[in-house]
Amino acid sequence: MQNYIDYRKIQKPLNFENFTVEIGFGSGDFLIRLAEQNKEEIFFGVEKSWISINKLLKKCKLKKINNIYCTRLDAYWTFQLLFKNKSVKTIIINYPDPWFKKSHIKKRLTKKENLFVYAKKLIDNGEIKIRTDHYPFVEFTLQESEFLKCFSTTVSNLSINEPLTKYEKKWLSIGKNIWEIVLKKEKEPEFIETKKIMEVKELFPVKICKEKLNIDAISHKEFKIEEGLYLKCFSVWKNNGDYAIEVVLSEKDFLQAFFITAKNKGEYFIIDVSKFSEILKTEGIQKALNFLAKLFMEVL
Ligand SMILES: C[S@@+](CC[C@H](N)C(=O)[O-])C[C@H]1O[C@@H](n2cnc3c(N)ncnc32)[C@H](O)[C@@H]1O
Repeated sequence: MQNYIDYRKIQKPLNFENFTVEIGFGSGDFLIRLAEQNKEEIFFGVEKSWISINKLLKKCKLKKINNIYCTRLDAYWTFQLLFKNKSVKTIIINYPDPWFKKSHIKKRLTKKENLFVYAKKLIDNGEIKIRTDHYPFVEFTLQESEFLKCFSTTVSNLSINEPLTKYEKKWLSIGKNIWEIVLKKEKEPEFIETKKIMEVKELFPVKICKEKLNIDAISHKEFKIEEGLYLKCFSVWKNNGDYAIEVVLSEKDFLQAFFITAKNKGEYFIIDVSKFSEILKTEGIQKALNFLAKLFMEVL
């Protein structure tokens, strides 16, 4: 079985029902234990670290576990893009980075925009279970959940007999308090504005006249294409009259790094995403191709 899900290549949303998701699984031991104890259920691990993904995949292979899937993607986008509404039974978040500073609040896994998307994907009476050693994080999570008016909440002090994660072992060995927050979905969340991106079936290359291409206009430059869509261009490589430009596109904060090519066809150039770049095809990428083509036309 293929445990890894490449979100860029699959049909979305996934057809999973009544499954459990662990966000930020770290070493993966907690998820492995759950999957081993509940062989008839499906588990899904979400991580932004390749190191964690590879650790989990190795363990799954070694233990022949076939009821865990995982993807390397930010939790918000995993829920937004991959899961059906009302399909997730339980969401587990163990010892999330608390992001202590106020300026880092937007990185917290329990900010209201995230809780909104989690809530939409939970089944009725589904639960979010969070463990943390940081009380201000408990308070923050409860405050954010109140905006959505859809959860009943309980907070308890956990006594753990069998520490399962690296952080649990560490906190217990130094006598720290551990809290568990349970947010139970009682109804649909109140609407709040959230970030969305649009996938497209196909990306269309753009043709421009040969004499218009001024590659220096984009090398090591940053562009605002529209509100929420930013393109950063890095180095440009030249090979037999063709060009490849390394870029990062931020589309509603969804980041993609890839190469754009300008292929010399004699009379004209074709601007496209390099066939070696693995991307999620989005409206934003099409806009970036159109934007660059227009820019090349304007600079001369
Ligand atoms: C403090 S560690 C806890 C790891 C594990 N749950 C444990 O208890 O040992 C937090 C983990 O969350 C992951 N993480 C942080 N922000 C994330 C996000 N936005 N989406 C997915 N994973 C995230 C990190 O890569 C890291 O592995």
